Amino acid sequence: MVEQHSEASPNSFTSTMREDRLFPPPPEFAARAHIRSRAEYDEMYRRSIDDNEAFWAEQAQALDWFKPFDKVLEWNVPEAKWFVGGKLNLCHNAVDRHALGSRADKTALLWEGEPGEVRSLTYAELHAEVQRFANVLKSLGIAKGDRVAIYMGVCPEIVLAVLACARIGAVHNVVFGGFAAQALADRMNDAQCKLLITQDTSFRRGQDVALKSIADEALDRSPGVEHVLVYQRSGKPVSMKEGRDHWLHEELAKADAECAAEPMDSEDPLYILYTSGTTGKPKGLVHTTGGYGVGTLLTTKYIFDLQDSDVYWCTADVGWVTGHSYVVYGPLLNGATIMLYEGAPNWPECDRFWQIVDRHKVSIFYTAPTAIRAFMKWGTEHVHKHSLASLRMLGTVGEPINPEAWMWYHREIGKKRCPIADTWWQTETGSIMIAPIPGAVPTKPGSATLPFFGIEPEIVTKEGEPVPLGHGGLLVVRKPWPAMARTIFGDAERYKKAYWSEIPGSYFTGDGARRDMDGYFWLMGRVDDVLNISGHRLGTAEIESALVAHPKVAEAAVVGRPDEMKGEGIVVFVSLHDDAEVTPTLKDELKKHVAKEIGALARPDEIRFTPSLPKTRSGKIMRRLLRELAATGDVKGDTTTLEDFSVVAKLKEKDEE
Ligand code: WTA
Repeated sequence: MVEQHSEASPNSFTSTMREDRLFPPPPEFAARAHIRSRAEYDEMYRRSIDDNEAFWAEQAQALDWFKPFDKVLEWNVPEAKWFVGGKLNLCHNAVDRHALGSRADKTALLWEGEPGEVRSLTYAELHAEVQRFANVLKSLGIAKGDRVAIYMGVCPEIVLAVLACARIGAVHNVVFGGFAAQALADRMNDAQCKLLITQDTSFRRGQDVALKSIADEALDRSPGVEHVLVYQRSGKPVSMKEGRDHWLHEELAKADAECAAEPMDSEDPLYILYTSGTTGKPKGLVHTTGGYGVGTLLTTKYIFDLQDSDVYWCTADVGWVTGHSYVVYGPLLNGATIMLYEGAPNWPECDRFWQIVDRHKVSIFYTAPTAIRAFMKWGTEHVHKHSLASLRMLGTVGEPINPEAWMWYHREIGKKRCPIADTWWQTETGSIMIAPIPGAVPTKPGSATLPFFGIEPEIVTKEGEPVPLGHGGLLVVRKPWPAMARTIFGDAERYKKAYWSEIPGSYFTGDGARRDMDGYFWLMGRVDDVLNISGHRLGTAEIESALVAHPKVAEAAVVGRPDEMKGEGIVVFVSLHDDAEVTPTLKDELKKHVAKEIGALARPDEIRFTPSLPKTRSGKIMRRLLRELAATGDVKGDTTTLEDFSVVAKLKEKDEE
């Protein structure tokens, strides 16, 4: 399959978000912030662009380097090398230097299990634990450069697993615990993982998430995985395969206490993380060490105005990039106290998050618009039971935030005193690219505002021509930045083609955006065939290939339609094989089939049977038309390129649900 882009023209964008409200940084917040005024931001931003390499060289000093770098950047489009020749270790930077410095007794992580247990680890404890964990990895034959899959829930052990890999230079490949067996197997196979770290079960809404048993199914299809390390979270019975599976606690008990952090080259890979693209096969994006460390450390510090006294909670799962950059690396590199919560926000009641905020005195809270919309729906009474007095800074990520949700967040959670950072970025960018600096930049509900230091995003036409302020276009980034992904694992060509050939010489984000007269960015969603379901990326082609794997399905086309809660919902048009028997339960069966193949988040919201799909004369499915039909129930757009005009009439005949 080739990478395809939808017919959506950037010039057809009309943003519905015309927002005039302006929220200046609260003076008491600005007074003690790292960056205290718009003038200060402007000055630092200007310097970061005018003398980009000098700026990054200076900022890179925030990390401990075992060997200083010789050169800031080597750039041969699209190959970037940052901090060339430097040696460092991100586990050392995230743990050792705090544990051995002034933060030994500072809480590094606080965790709440869904059933209610609380655990915490100081930096000194984290240091001790991570060394043992790293020695366990070594004892199972893992060495620098080996790939290790991690398939776990949110718990201190997933943070330890990630950091232990970084400590010995193993490349972690975290797979979100909501993904199904096949998705896990595909990711382990593509990355050629030698070891899998998982756990017996995790808790979600009072139910067991049977991680080990799903992993067993995946392992049957991943013969390259030699060993499995199992964290005993719940004590629920699981099957352990002799010689292959090992209990983490037994291995830790045997492990040596000391393990030196491996000096890594700045450009050595740190992790692979899979994300959806426009073809059926997810892309394994490769992030490296030095640049990623600098990017995540700095953005966390400035965008959340992180101070030593903060309790910082990013609610993302570690399995997504937000969890990598803003649960684990960014805050720990800064020596922060991080909050982790295992379960659902509405368990046992809809006020669980607010209970956690009050109980642990969370001061920085970072979540997704889809979660905010759910809180709104559940009702403010759940919020009003708690004081939320400890909060001073809020953030959102993952999808555009509608001004109504922004205002609710500002009023009900932030009590009008907390700045909100709407942060735009991607798995590929590694760190936040566009977001307000809270003590400096006034916010507008629904806008991610201005670029981070050193980042120069631009809005262009399909031909790469600049688009004037106020008009929509494609969002690109002209210059490299330290935390950018370096390649797609095993497929450098695809990396070039997907990101650097659409607008030659520029990084193409796949997003549409508009810049208003104040220079503020307004993100307008994907312009390619990637869906954003509750802030999670899913490729339409991935869902289509799961569907055509079903014996009754001949052809399938997947499109998104606006959804009040999830941002986007999944609508599937399916044509069945002529001899397929249509039973009353077939739609449900197909929905379950997709959930089983990919994971529950890919479960279609609606399935529509159709004798055939609308195609152009050259055989391309006309998704624009399907999108319109899914959203409005009608087709008014141009259909002149259709191969068979009767298809539209048949598509409109909505069959009984
Ligand atoms: C979307 C998540 C609008 C966007 C960090 C992007 C956003 C995709 C925002 C990346 C935001 C993320 N406003 N849209 N603040 N943040 N997006 O790779 O379409 O899971 O391309 O990274 O999410 O999703 P990913």
